[in-house]
Amino acid sequence: MTNRIQTVGVAGGGGTMGAGIAIVAARAGFKTVVYDTNRDALDAAFDQTRGFFEKSVARGKIPAEQLDDILATYVLTTELDDFAECDLVIEAVFEDLPTKQTLFRALNTICPPHTLFASNTSTLSITEIASGCGREDKVVGMHFCLPAQLMKLIEMSPGLNTSDDAFAAAWAWTEACGQTPVKTQDKPGFILNALLVPFNNDVIRAVEAGVATPEAIDTAIKTGLGYRMGPCELIDLIGLDTQVRLCEAFYPVTHDPRAAAPPLLRRMVAAGHLGRKSGRGFYDYDDGAMFGG
Ligand SMILES: NC(=O)c1ccc[n+]([C@@H]2O[C@H](COP(=O)([O-])OP(=O)(O)OC[C@H]3O[C@@H](n4cnc5c(N)ncnc54)[C@H](O)[C@@H]3O)[C@@H](O)[C@H]2O)c1
Repeated sequence: MTNRIQTVGVAGGGGTMGAGIAIVAARAGFKTVVYDTNRDALDAAFDQTRGFFEKSVARGKIPAEQLDDILATYVLTTELDDFAECDLVIEAVFEDLPTKQTLFRALNTICPPHTLFASNTSTLSITEIASGCGREDKVVGMHFCLPAQLMKLIEMSPGLNTSDDAFAAAWAWTEACGQTPVKTQDKPGFILNALLVPFNNDVIRAVEAGVATPEAIDTAIKTGLGYRMGPCELIDLIGLDTQVRLCEAFYPVTHDPRAAAPPLLRRMVAAGHLGRKSGRGFYDYDDGAMFGG
């Protein structure tokens, strides 16, 4: 089945993760159909994508003569029907179960029977996302890390009805892209978010309680534990609104009080302090770069 993957679709390609996932696919030479319901977001993401690839050329990571070929693999679209020739569709739309289910049910009527569906969900169940889509055996969890175009890790999880063949084919595709897959159960948060969502909330509560400033916490974590990025820097990169959505998906399933969105997080989102994407979060930014500058 792996050899049949030639064309890859990315749903939600105007968003932070979708744009990065599309880069992973296009960079590896796959024809990449990028779909989003928001045309402006799609165009803005493609501008940033072009900038990312131009920087990669300037840094010697991609030969200059490959730039046009890579960009030519992109098809930008707001029409779901353009997924009709995809062998693999990866969804990175909003973290909302009905939205993802509706998308896969619609795709089932558009894509050929062999097409694999992958979900980049952070917290939702792959089995539930697949439920009722009509090809539950071909749905896999494929959780990329932010920023997807730079981070090698992908958490791969089969749903209860996923076939071994489909899982193996999706796994092989991630390796063909030069990524590092790890297998995890279909459990909320998989490996990273199960640990990270409560931890990030602990950090936000510590800031709110005045334990230390975001700068001091980040310095402590980076210099004391050797992390490359402080948690407040990371939350700004993830997006504070995304952290709220993660909590709202995670808490009802786990009932872990540490997974409940802290009041300061909600206030910052209400104030529009969403992190890098809005130019202000725990820190101020003036580059507005969705890919983290
Ligand atoms: N941000 C992260 O750190 C991160 C990391 C790993 C996984 N994820 C997961 O990736 C997914 C996307 O997160 P994000 O942070 O990129 O969100 P985002 O808000 O940046 O992007 C979502 C995109 O999906 C589009 N969209 C929404 N509904 C759609 C639909 N029905 N059809 C097509 N496009 C649609 C939106 O217009 C938007 O461009 C979520 O499931 C999230 O849990 C996020």
